[in-house]
Amino acid sequence: MKILITGASSGLGEELARQYASADNELILLARREDKLFKLRSELFEKCKSIDIVVADVTAFDELQKKIKSIGSVDIVILNAGVSLGHSGDIPTIDEFKNLYDVNVLSNHAILEILLPLFKKQQSGKIVFISSLASLFTMPSSKVYSSSKRALNAYAEGIRYKYKKDGIKVINILPGFIKSELTDKNEFNMPFLLETDEGVQRIIKAIKKEKRTYAFPLRFYLIISFLNLLPYFLREKIVNSLK
Ligand SMILES: NC(=O)c1ccc[n+]([C@@H]2O[C@H](COP(=O)([O-])OP(=O)(O)OC[C@H]3O[C@@H](n4cnc5c(N)ncnc54)[C@H](OP(=O)(O)O)[C@@H]3O)[C@@H](O)[C@H]2O)c1
Repeated sequence: MKILITGASSGLGEELARQYASADNELILLARREDKLFKLRSELFEKCKSIDIVVADVTAFDELQKKIKSIGSVDIVILNAGVSLGHSGDIPTIDEFKNLYDVNVLSNHAILEILLPLFKKQQSGKIVFISSLASLFTMPSSKVYSSSKRALNAYAEGIRYKYKKDGIKVINILPGFIKSELTDKNEFNMPFLLETDEGVQRIIKAIKKEKRTYAFPLRFYLIISFLNLLPYFLREKIVNSLK
């Protein structure tokens, strides 16, 4: 399989590359940090059918699209590149807000604008979005991040409805906390925090099973679902007690 992974220089993306590295797979790893990508390529080179790196900033849309065009079609695209603002609770600047949306939401469309016609032509293709459980429950300090992932859920759903008839599978992954550079920044207690390799094993299993949506860990997802059922005033009290 030919697999494109964005945000492959650290965290989930790096581990996805490790776990997908096999003689059957052609990997394409995309991120900005060239040194990290080259290091990962050296590590995985012998295990893979092929492994290419694409150094790109996903917010430089024109350049990004040129690079995606040069790759051509793939079997799976894992839209994993993402940023958070940390959980400071401060008022983000408009530039921080915009950059977060460019990375977490718009870059995915920039990539799919190129790949969707190719997937339609081949009548196949898996699109994997890496959303978050934060898309289902908003803490005041993560409002921008949560809103971006909620936008991603809506976008993923629309793409799924629209292109089902073309044999295109859309898999939306909603992880809880998993160890990575992104979560290393968090200074609060992260419930049900998973090791990177375990989190990624679960993601790969969900992709294989072509789950439409996969939210995990289950216990965390159930707690969030329960909190969302509560009357607003009660939920607000709980949220404010967690701050
Ligand atoms: N870890 C968790 O608990 C968790 C939970 C739910 C969802 N997620 C989601 O999982 C995804 C991966 O996050 P992670 O936890 O693995 O964080 P991470 O270790 O910080 O990795 C983020 C990746 O995104 C890439 N990236 C960021 N901005 C980019 C840009 N402008 N252009 C190109 N690549 C860019 C980074 O590469 P460069 O810096 O080299 O460009 C890096 O490879 C994100 O979408 C995140 O929202 C994570």
